[in-house]
Amino acid sequence: MSVTCIFGMQWGDEGKGRMVDLLAAASDVVVRYQGGANAGHTVIVGEEKYVLHMLPSGVIQPDTVNVIANGVVIDPWVLMQEVDELTERDIDLRGRLWISDRAHVVMPYHRRMDEAMEKLRGKAAIGTTSRGIGPTYGDKAMREGIRTADLLRPDRFVDRLRANMLARNEILERAGLEPMDIDADVETTRQIAERIKPFVTDTTTLLLDAWEQGKRILLEGAQGFALDVDHGSYPFVTSSSTGPSGVPAGTGLPPKAIDRVLGVVKAYTTRVGAGPFPTRDEGDAGRQLAEQGHEFGATTGRPRDCGWFDAVVARRAARTQGVDRLAIMKLDVLSGLPELKIGVAYELDGQRLEAPPAHAADWLACRPVYETWPGWQEDLTGVRRFEDLPQAARDYVARLQEIVGIPIGMISVGAERGQFIETTDGVPVPA
Ligand code: IMP
Repeated sequence: MSVTCIFGMQWGDEGKGRMVDLLAAASDVVVRYQGGANAGHTVIVGEEKYVLHMLPSGVIQPDTVNVIANGVVIDPWVLMQEVDELTERDIDLRGRLWISDRAHVVMPYHRRMDEAMEKLRGKAAIGTTSRGIGPTYGDKAMREGIRTADLLRPDRFVDRLRANMLARNEILERAGLEPMDIDADVETTRQIAERIKPFVTDTTTLLLDAWEQGKRILLEGAQGFALDVDHGSYPFVTSSSTGPSGVPAGTGLPPKAIDRVLGVVKAYTTRVGAGPFPTRDEGDAGRQLAEQGHEFGATTGRPRDCGWFDAVVARRAARTQGVDRLAIMKLDVLSGLPELKIGVAYELDGQRLEAPPAHAADWLACRPVYETWPGWQEDLTGVRRFEDLPQAARDYVARLQEIVGIPIGMISVGAERGQFIETTDGVPVPA
């Protein structure tokens, strides 16, 4: 299996970065194919904690090549700050970090537009991460974007930059926000362009060559399936295709290159930002999940809403994205809850739904249909074999596997590197 895609099957924050870091040790190349600095991947190695927004999670592994492919929207300021921080911690990225020459660049005005558009949306605000993601993908689709290849040719992009900024200043004024200083932004853009230059290359050729040579490639999804621009809770979504369906467009690798798809879910559900979340729990259980799971956004620091496992979303993700194995994260966080619920379907206007509805207003009105399972009190953080889990935990996990319909390959029981249970071909489901 040389090409593996890992992606989140919920509303992001499933713990993908940690899975990628585990698998990166056995990979030659780690690739980001969509999203941008809206992602926040936390990787813990021993006593060291790394929070990455732009860089692929493989950067911590000394021998891994890391690629930011064409489908990513690159914020060069965030990128270089992360490169500098890693350099200070003795992690050298020269010669093992490559940025696509076709990736679109998040300019300072995209961040300002993100802020302005959220303000203009008022009550209908999406609750974006304010990282300029939507406006940058919007410009890409409108064919007004600036790509890394443009940044390397300042003689060509400055006029476009000025024209784009003039038009955006009008919108800022409408939102009652300060206009941008065009000359200042042009100058800082020239400076950052110089800094990213050594990392820019044709990553499509690099990846095709690696694939043809049988190199082990790990494709790292950001955000999650329910935030996918096509399949998620539109318009409360991000602006990219978050799962393996985003890989061919976002990398240049052909669809058939993907050998294995690993879907990551938390043992419960969390969400940041506005929009549908039928299994949200606003009572004691939700509070306990937030506290025990340290559920605060890695990018924005916002508290995450918490609730029960939503099998409607997970099943849809599994079926549309062709998931081969599930990774269940943070099972340990459920310890101490008297009982556990699983949202197995939705109910809308007296009808049972097995798949999410198209309209956000309907999705918002859906009530979960719950199954209730006994909880357990034991601390799971020291468990390394499935058989050693308490019976109630085994039953709960087996039910998740059955209801999502995909064998479980991995269960995490703590935030540190060794704290997981490998199950490889699924867990035994009681008859
Ligand atoms: P945007 O991607 O910043 O435009 O935000 C759109 C929606 O996606 C908002 O609900 C964000 O909270 C959510 N979002 C974006 N990135 C992440 C992430 O990495 N984890 C969780 N939610 C995210």
